[in-house]
Amino acid sequence: MPTDSNSVSSGHSGREARAQGALPTQAAKRPAPPCTIVIFGAGGDLTRRLLIPALYHLAHEALLDDSLRIIGVSHGERETATWRDELFESLQQSVADKSSEAHTDKLDRKPWDWLAQRLQYQAGEFEDDATYAQLKQQIDEDQHGNVIFYLAVGAQFFKPIVERLGKAGLLEQNGGFRRLIVEKPFGSDLASARELNAHILRFARESQVYRIDHFLGKDTVQSILAVRFANAMFEPIWRREYIDSVQITAAETLGVEGRGQFYERTGALRDMVPNHLFQLLAVVALEAPNSFDAEAVRGKKVELFEAIEPLMPDDVVLGQYEAGPAGTAYRDEPNVAPDSATETYVAARLRIDNWRWAGVPFYLRTGKRLATRRTEIAVQLKRVPFLLFRDTPVEALTPNVLTLRIDPSHGTSFDFNVKVPGPTMLIGAARSSFDYGDFFPQRPNVGYETLLYDCMLGDATLFQRADSIEASWAAVDRILHPQRGTVPVHGYAAGSAGPAEADALLARDGRAWRPLDE
Ligand code: BG6
Repeated sequence: MPTDSNSVSSGHSGREARAQGALPTQAAKRPAPPCTIVIFGAGGDLTRRLLIPALYHLAHEALLDDSLRIIGVSHGERETATWRDELFESLQQSVADKSSEAHTDKLDRKPWDWLAQRLQYQAGEFEDDATYAQLKQQIDEDQHGNVIFYLAVGAQFFKPIVERLGKAGLLEQNGGFRRLIVEKPFGSDLASARELNAHILRFARESQVYRIDHFLGKDTVQSILAVRFANAMFEPIWRREYIDSVQITAAETLGVEGRGQFYERTGALRDMVPNHLFQLLAVVALEAPNSFDAEAVRGKKVELFEAIEPLMPDDVVLGQYEAGPAGTAYRDEPNVAPDSATETYVAARLRIDNWRWAGVPFYLRTGKRLATRRTEIAVQLKRVPFLLFRDTPVEALTPNVLTLRIDPSHGTSFDFNVKVPGPTMLIGAARSSFDYGDFFPQRPNVGYETLLYDCMLGDATLFQRADSIEASWAAVDRILHPQRGTVPVHGYAAGSAGPAEADALLARDGRAWRPLDE
């Protein structure tokens, strides 16, 4: 990960700093090398909603090489011009829609035209050798030979595409680089993830494989490593002696959004836990790497995942939304079985068996159709040891909690205690908050910009290595196989905070979830 330090000084507020031009710019960033990006799944949602907007933003910041070429492959017959128009229309819509991921308030024609000229459509079936012969012909025309193959397709196509790319010689690095970006879901349990890794690694080397988890593309997630390791005040207390517990929440208000078919066989546990929530766990819990070099960071991550005690049925609560204030029941969604047992909510208590974290519970929860949208990590410190203040017993003191807010609000807050003004020594709760937007200019970003840029540069820090994927699945594998222990699925009302049984999971430990409506 490139580490540009900057000098926003502590003596003045962010707004002053901005006014004085002290904020860092993109100047330190170098343009990506020449490269052709082949997108399998050119007609899909991911390409339209995220990949093309991300490339547009990179073009806007002049971070792409002039010789860039994007070849979109999909089975539908369409002209390149039609594909460009479709993508442009979708970009325009996302700019107009303030709730979309694009976070862009206007569309500049110049970078779009620059990008559009470089877009080229190729109709072809993913399982037809002719598709790859045609691609090879195209790619052989490039002087540089650098190619990224982006698998923005259903997981059932990962193996056949990689195999055909391999057999067509398209993954051979003779002069240029050949890289594969593989989307989620990477397997559906430990055995299938191992099999997929083994299959891919028959045709490509590990260093060519970039397994994506889009949570790592979020600035607020990457920034947690900076908060931990660029400040002297956190690391000394970041351990079992001072930390009581950690809560990781990814609450969504959305339901399954027409993805019933995918979700029925996936469920919240597979969709969110060993991937997105574990990436959040990693940034908050990994040991300090020796550098931000990809292998140093990824090595620490694997060590952490391997130290997770495999989840047992007793540590997990599953839920499924029923009709409630926020809408209809999951079972009434399109393409969902009327008697579906698929979970749309998971809460889990996780233990990390290492020197730093032994005895500190990590509580994870995620769910669809919850009361609020919120992704955050709350690190709660232990209570002070004895009753010093006559009028406020120690149990009544607000615990110190550092909350790292990831989405939709971006920042951190810290809850601590102060004396309430007045004649008696009464203690009251206070909160100090920081919002990124107050200190740094907001940049249009869909979360894939850094990931695409890093892949072009060959920096795999923010991508998953094979061993890390397998260690994550290993930690949840027992819950995924009914023969090794069943976990009941409890109902919760759409728009609520989740099933009551999830509260009981923490109450057992004398703790409670942070309220979702706070
Ligand atoms: C995806 C899941 O990977 O992440 C979705 O498949 C989920 O079900 C989404 O909604 C959450 O991502 P974000 O960035 O919107 O929090």
